[in-house]
Amino acid sequence: GILKEKNTEKEEMTTLVLGALEEEIADVRAAMQHTQEKKAGIYTVLCGMIGGQELYISKCGVGKVNAAAAASAILTAFPQIDRVINTGVAGGIGKGLHRGDVVVGTQTVQHDFDATADGKRKGQIEGFDSEFFASDPALCASMAQALSAEKIVFTAGVIASGDRFVADKATAEKIAAEFGAAACEMESAAIAQVCALYRVPFLPLRAISDGGDDDAIQSFYEFLHAAAANNARAIIRFLQAE
Ligand code: ADE
Repeated sequence: GILKEKNTEKEEMTTLVLGALEEEIADVRAAMQHTQEKKAGIYTVLCGMIGGQELYISKCGVGKVNAAAAASAILTAFPQIDRVINTGVAGGIGKGLHRGDVVVGTQTVQHDFDATADGKRKGQIEGFDSEFFASDPALCASMAQALSAEKIVFTAGVIASGDRFVADKATAEKIAAEFGAAACEMESAAIAQVCALYRVPFLPLRAISDGGDDDAIQSFYEFLHAAAANNARAIIRFLQAE
């Protein structure tokens, strides 16, 4: 009956959503019910529900160190977290991407990590076999379904992270070519590394706000909210579908 269906088909998961900026998490947070603030060290985490799923959401700040510090503190404080989604905007550096399109990050890489002098591949960190952190395939597939259902244009691809706002065409093209990256931003590969260390499934979702070119900053501020809103719709649908 209905009860059995609930128990067998609706797996209850606890999801952590992290975003660097207030604008990147506002719409998901607004959809949460039964909210309650909790502390994880210096971080305030809002706990609540969307679509019968338990959700934790927090702002991590910009850049790899901020992102890693927040992910680490929150995963330590709340070991019940089953999976992590990083949401935000990005520079679209792959071919054919438009502002508002969404990139489901199948892999992430730290484009500014360089131990090539020690025989490592560009982006490869000691202790890891590859420069790429693989995202959770099941999360990628479910999010792709949610994006389709919301009729949001999306692509699956590599997301390159680094402590640099990319705002010139040469740098954007170099990162795209070096890692086959579709998008560049400043947090997801850092969170991916923390999730790999903690063995928690991870998915980065990035909406394109700019092209990482000379107009990037202006475009970023212009499209930040609209781009982030697409991600929020997808995440809410993703949670409701489960
Ligand atoms: N986030 C959004 N656009 C970006 C860019 N061009 N570089 C780095 N992070 C970004």
